[in-house]
Amino acid sequence: MDQQLINLVNKLQDVFASIGVQNNIDLPQITVIGSQSSGKSSVLENIVGRDFLPRGTGIVTRRPLVLQLINRPATSRAANGDNKEGEKKDDSETKKDGDKPEEALSKLRINENNPDEWGEFLHLPGQKFHDFGKIRDEIVRDTEKMTGKNAGISPNPINLRIFSPNVLTLTLVDLPGLTKVPVGDQPRDIEKQIRDMLFRYISKPNAIILAVTAANTDLANSDGLKLAREVDPEGTRTIGVLTKVDLMDQGTDVVDILAGRVIPLRLGYVPVVNRGQRDIDQSKSIASALENEKKFFENHPSYASKAQYCGTPWLARKLNIILMHHIRNTLPDIKARISQQLIKYQTELASLGGALGETNPGSVVLSTITEFCNEFRSSIDGNNNDVSLNE
Ligand code: GDP
Ligand code: NA
Ligand code: MG
Repeated sequence: MDQQLINLVNKLQDVFASIGVQNNIDLPQITVIGSQSSGKSSVLENIVGRDFLPRGTGIVTRRPLVLQLINRPATSRAANGDNKEGEKKDDSETKKDGDKPEEALSKLRINENNPDEWGEFLHLPGQKFHDFGKIRDEIVRDTEKMTGKNAGISPNPINLRIFSPNVLTLTLVDLPGLTKVPVGDQPRDIEKQIRDMLFRYISKPNAIILAVTAANTDLANSDGLKLAREVDPEGTRTIGVLTKVDLMDQGTDVVDILAGRVIPLRLGYVPVVNRGQRDIDQSKSIASALENEKKFFENHPSYASKAQYCGTPWLARKLNIILMHHIRNTLPDIKARISQQLIKYQTELASLGGALGETNPGSVVLSTITEFCNEFRSSIDGNNNDVSLNE
């Protein structure tokens, strides 16, 4: 995640913690919806940058996975030694807001082999998973425990937290895909059950919806877009993601969709290329998949001229910008609430016969927030933050 964003949010959260208020920023949850096997889990995994989600043909994701990324400063020496990236970015990025999409991505990703990173499941408290392959095994195991092995589904979420010095404290939700015909142990009303399940997550006003559609299917039939429109008719929190662009018939492309000429979306569409089933079977790494994606867009005659607006790094960049806007919009309200509390404390203190000196903690908090509001405004206004891709 964007380093500037991480730094600012961390500072704010420290300030809030110091006056005993927690979780004030309430960052949006990033949710993925779309048809079964459209590539939702693959998209999330690429955004996070680690292999840990079960993916594949058929219904693989059968319960919601609520993935909380939690920023936690590095403590081990090894991690600090490795973490040249973090050091460098601290001053140089603070002002620039990571202009390059590639940079937005590298900060969003979880680094490999970092002893300061691990996953922990709510249902297995205290058990630290440093091996992300084992995290996937546990997701599969617990899914089967709840739903059996025969394609059953359950609205009961799996809660996974990933602690890392390199992430923004943020929640992502992987969800089962929309499907119509029951198979295996699925209930007759599978379509309705999955819709209800998805609604619960995407109707939250602060949910960002990644509406995933495979580019080799007809956009007009996109289940994800249809559902997103029901909860977000203005399209203020829906990003279209077009997967499997590599599998389109020769001579066809998504240029018209990107240009908003098919089904316009306010926040636009991002085309991506994830790992195919063969890549998964051959355990192709995320790093090489991202390299492959980059080459694909740069070398394709339809996309070469706009390659920077294609692929996972650009999707990450868009998410960053939306998060920045969200934080900026949330701060005045938080500030107002803290002001009120401050007045209340001052009144109470006065009635007890005391007085607050210059350095009372409440006013320090307020001035810090004011400073941040200004900083955010200038950093956002100073950037090209056009998150739409309508040409
Ligand atoms: P989900 O069911 O929507 O979560 O989809 P998955 O992420 O599990 O992917 C379903 C299948 O599609 C897997 O076999 C993936 O390898 C494949 N897949 C997903 N995205 C792409 C892509 O962009 N290109 C190709 N070639 N295959 C993809
Ligand atoms: Na699937
Ligand atoms: Mg899935």
